[in-house]
Amino acid sequence: MARRRIIAGNWKMNKTPSEAVALCAELKDLVVNDAVDVVYCVPAIDIVPVAEAVKGTNVHVGAENFYIEDKGAFTGEISAPMLKEAGVEYVIIGHSERRDIFGENDILINAKVKKAFASGLTPILCCGESLALRKAGTYKEWIKRQIEWDLTDVTADQVKTLVIAYEPIWAIGTGETATADQAQEVCKMIRETIAEMYDAATAEAVRIQYGGSMNAGNAAELLAKEDIDGGLIGGASLKPDFGKIVNA
Ligand code: PGA
Repeated sequence: MARRRIIAGNWKMNKTPSEAVALCAELKDLVVNDAVDVVYCVPAIDIVPVAEAVKGTNVHVGAENFYIEDKGAFTGEISAPMLKEAGVEYVIIGHSERRDIFGENDILINAKVKKAFASGLTPILCCGESLALRKAGTYKEWIKRQIEWDLTDVTADQVKTLVIAYEPIWAIGTGETATADQAQEVCKMIRETIAEMYDAATAEAVRIQYGGSMNAGNAAELLAKEDIDGGLIGGASLKPDFGKIVNA
């Protein structure tokens, strides 16, 4: 299996610019691992100082959000060309907090995926079910539909470079992690969905992360699973623990 592991921190709405630079310094020696892609997805205002702080290290910079137009009257938004010029390589799209708190739907998320690719940014596309869907037993159908909607008109060559993050909403920030078997079951199903939508080579290439209370204690077991190629880490990305996950 030739997929390269990708461990991304999702800092969410945490760290002022000076705190962000301090965190980069704190983590610098802990996140060294040439076999892993390490990404810090940071608040928009932290992008420029973080890009400067990680220069010359193995850390890549990601954004947590953007809008689909290049410029214009979109008060409060930030564009792909702005991110690119600042040194951003990855962008989180469709996080459950964007979907639930900010009302982003799959039509917008699909447009963002296409715009990210057109702009030379690599999407980290999030999907995942609520606790109600998990309990109802319909979570796999739900996630499959999210993937199909969000990748409408996205090409196989693009999907080969895509990162998908499976994040069960009931495990985000709750301390309740999906078991490694639960996470593997869905990540495998996502890969099978990609195989159905595209082909075996595309499914083999796409990288799939697990996210939801991943930490220094449970990362190794999750990352050992065949279809889990990395993690999207919230709370633990703000602590030295993140280095342990990178090196799990
Ligand atoms: P968590 O967040 O690790 O704090 O659960 C993960 C995420 O929301 O990306």
